[in-house]
Amino acid sequence: MKMFLDSANVDDVRALAAAGAIDGVTMNPALLARDKVILEDVLAMICELAGGPVSAPVRANEWEAIVREGRALAKVHERVVVKIPIHADGLRAIAKLHAEGIRTHATLCCSANHGLLAARAGADFVSPIVGRLEETGVSGLEVVAQMIEIYDNYEFDTQIMVASVRTPTHVQEAALLGADAVTMPRRLFEAIAHHPLAERVQSEFLAAWKRL
Ligand code: G3P
Repeated sequence: MKMFLDSANVDDVRALAAAGAIDGVTMNPALLARDKVILEDVLAMICELAGGPVSAPVRANEWEAIVREGRALAKVHERVVVKIPIHADGLRAIAKLHAEGIRTHATLCCSANHGLLAARAGADFVSPIVGRLEETGVSGLEVVAQMIEIYDNYEFDTQIMVASVRTPTHVQEAALLGADAVTMPRRLFEAIAHHPLAERVQSEFLAAWKRL
């Protein structure tokens, strides 16, 4: 399973890319606002650092404006993937950009039917928002499982990138289901690398080395 960093923070991208931990980067407007980052200021640099696809969100909400913005974003760097929310205009824009050979990432996928529509439109990636779904009482991982079954039924090429990941269990379950990718914040990369038992035994072994 590929692992993407969900961040607009250049330092986070640099650190995790240098560690060889990431296959690419995704961003959303809330992350840009949190770090007070202007997308156009950081996008080219993040693309250089990321080593893989970089999903850049569109601001526009109407299909022709999304298409114009998508074309402009795609010109910034060959790694850019245009990130577009799933709604009627978004799906129309995804289909248009796909026809032009511009890669897209359908986001805010809230159901298996959303996933079906994104794949039919030709999205390269689609992100079910697992954590946000669970906040509404829906099993986000069940939506992922349904999407995998539907994509297998029809041999869609769209990659399922599980997003809105909140816990290490989400990562593990996404991998067990066979999702293509997960995108998550830096803290989760760190959380899944640590285990209290491994750390306790390693402390014991380090002490043993000193006694030798
Ligand atoms: O693609 C949408 C995803 O980035 C949302 O993540 O953490 O705001 O729920 P989050």
